[in-house]
Formats: sequence, C-alpha cells, structure tokens
Amino acid sequence: MPDAPPPDPAGPAPAKGTALDDGAPYDAAGLERGRKLFAGGCDFIAGIVPGADFPPPDLAEIAFAGRSNVGKSSLINALTGRRALARVSNTPGRTQQLNFFRLGEAGRPGLSLVDLPGYGYAKAPKRDIARWTALTQDYLKGRVGLRRVCLLVDARHGLKDGDIAIMELLDEAAVIYQVVLTKADKLKSGELANVQAAVAKALARRVAAHPRLVVTSAETGTGIAELRAELAELTQS
Ligand code: GTP
Ligand code: MG
Repeated sequence: MPDAPPPDPAGPAPAKGTALDDGAPYDAAGLERGRKLFAGGCDFIAGIVPGADFPPPDLAEIAFAGRSNVGKSSLINALTGRRALARVSNTPGRTQQLNFFRLGEAGRPGLSLVDLPGYGYAKAPKRDIARWTALTQDYLKGRVGLRRVCLLVDARHGLKDGDIAIMELLDEAAVIYQVVLTKADKLKSGELANVQAAVAKALARRVAAHPRLVVTSAETGTGIAELRAELAELTQS
C-alpha cells in the first residue's frame, strides 16, 4: 500500500465561498493571534503636538485616521479592551494631538498604535486646524515603520471629501490604507450592504487601498476580533 501524501504545510485550503478564501486572516489561528496580541499590555507613549518630535519608530505602526467624531478613539479602546485608553468624547475635535500607544508584552512582537486628530471639524479655530492638519500630513507622508492606516468611515455617511483627500495623499505616499466602517450598530443590514458596496467600488480605483473592508461597531463589538486578526498580521517577528 502506498504511503499517504505528506500533509500540506499551509494547512487545508479554505472552502470556496467562505470569508477565508480572500486571504483574510480570520481562521481560528488568526483570530487567536489577534486576541493574544491585543490582550497584552498597552501603554500610552506620547501625545505629539506641532513642533514636537515623534517617538522613535521601533515597532510596526498602525495609524487610525478619519473625520472628527467617526469613532477613532472608541475603536482603539474596543480593540485593546480598555474603556478609556484613548479619550472618547461627544465633542468633535477632542483628540488634538497624535497619541502613540505601545501594544504587546515586552520581548514579544508588538505594535505601535497612533490615534490621529480628526479632520472636518469646522468649529475649531482655523489656525489650530491648519497646524494639526500639517502635522498629521507630515506624519502620514514620512513616518518610517507605518505599516497601515486604518481609515475610519462612519457607516451612516460613507466616503466624504476629507476621506478622499487622505486617500489621495496616501496613494501618493504609497502608504497602504484599509477602510474600517464604524458605528455599524446604527444601520439596518440592507443599508450597511449598500454602503459597503459603494465604498468597495470607490476603493477599487485606488492604488494604495487594501481591498478588504472591515465593518465594526465599538458599541456591540462587531468586527473587533477580525480587525485584531488583520492587524496582528503586521507585527514584526
Ligand atoms: P475626534 O477625536 O474628535 O476626532 O473623534 P473620534 O473619531 O476619536 O471619535 P470618538 O471615539 O471620540 O467617538 C465619537 C462619538 O461616537 C462618541 O460619542 C462615541 O461614543 C460614539 N461612537 C464611537 N463608536 C461608536 C459605535 O461603534 N457605535 C455607536 N453607536 N457610537 C459610537
Ligand atoms: Mg478621538
């Protein structure tokens, strides 16, 4: 009797038509890697204001960008399982500096997370807006170690002009960005599907866009485990 073929080192191929066949790291091992990474320590490192130096880029870094009030700080809190790591507010424009966090246990592969000031908040003084915008743009264009930008888009509103402007900047700077829809709890599933389709269509034309959208709710936890798995793929070993 012939020997059985050796097991495929990559493991069994995911079944066609499931969420796994587009390369998403959402199998049990990927989800567990994500869970472990985000269950480890997470420390605030620095809040950077215009004129200050960024912390040294010694870890793979993920930035969270998006319109004011879209839910950046809430998403970071949901990912890290902390209620108030990144400050959350009903007042748009609350995050007024670049906040750096370090995720993971000492001596293990970790990630740096960066909560960016939101754009599109018209009520702040013009001079302040110009300074944060310049700081954020400098960061996004020139940051060594920036592996991905999570571009948060409110699922109720879809892409706005400010989002398109950031996408253009990131396309030009060749920085990969992935759209994360937020506040999915506020929509019915049919409405959500329409927004997903419209955003996916707009992303298809963009050079630095990651093709996969992640749908999340910081309120209900939808998509949080999946986003952890996505981001855990980016740690340096
Ligand atoms: P800035 O720092 O001003 O740019 O805002 P931000 O993008 O950090 O938004 P933040 O996390 O402060 O959230 C803004 C508001 O949206 C708060 O009232 C949150 O409670 C609310 N919010 C955030 N995420 C969700 C969500 O998934 N579902 C619902 N229903 N509300 C959310
Ligand atoms: Mg914020």
